[in-house]
Amino acid sequence: MNILTFRSNEELNKAGAGILTGMLQTNPRAILGLATGSTPIGIYEELVQIYRQGLVSFSKATTFNLDEYVGLDRSHPESYYYFMQKHLLGHVNVTPEQCHIPNGMATNLEEECQRYDSLLEQAKQIDLQLLGLGHNGHIGFNEPDHSLIRGTHVVKLREQTREANARFFNTPEEVPSHAITMGVGTILKAKMILLVVRGIDKADIVKQALQGPITTEVPASLLQTHPHVVVLLDSEAGSKLA
Ligand code: F6R
Repeated sequence: MNILTFRSNEELNKAGAGILTGMLQTNPRAILGLATGSTPIGIYEELVQIYRQGLVSFSKATTFNLDEYVGLDRSHPESYYYFMQKHLLGHVNVTPEQCHIPNGMATNLEEECQRYDSLLEQAKQIDLQLLGLGHNGHIGFNEPDHSLIRGTHVVKLREQTREANARFFNTPEEVPSHAITMGVGTILKAKMILLVVRGIDKADIVKQALQGPITTEVPASLLQTHPHVVVLLDSEAGSKLA
């Protein structure tokens, strides 16, 4: 695991966007696993700038998002579909066919999970999976539990997660109770994982995830078993590491 700590958000964003750019430059057909939330926004902004300078193309890439809220239409400003259009996919040369996000409005959610898994199976392996980290150690929306699920599934969000995400909604009640998430099996199958964490409020969970015991109660601790993980931290998130 290669852990890099940055003094400024700007440097961290440049490093993250640089890794994604390098991936697409060396493998234009790269399959990218993408995340939402506040953490990757600066990286996506930087990547859009690099794209506008003509230094990177997405024309042959494929993207798979980690998760989507259940019950939010694509046009809802807090849906992850909307987020991805707003921050990255709406600004670069991709067609809708290249970009995959679970459909949280599917009438049959089980079938939707199976559909997503078969697309992931056809793609074989994600080349680079970008991850943020939840305060409770979740990756995607794989919440702490006695056991974790390998493939795409519907998850009931923990109160802590709903509270953390309430900042994006008008009222806390509006935060959806469920989401569809890629499973940890799919995440761990990625060739390379890029975990990005910012802020003092995540310093404890960063320590637990990267240096604590490997346990499904801290889903991100499973990343310790992966052969190719790069972690980008701001100095606050990294402040409790040994
Ligand atoms: C988002 C996702 C989540 C977030 C995590 C951190 O697609 O899968 O695991 O990465 O909740 O969220 P932020 O970045 O908002 O602190």
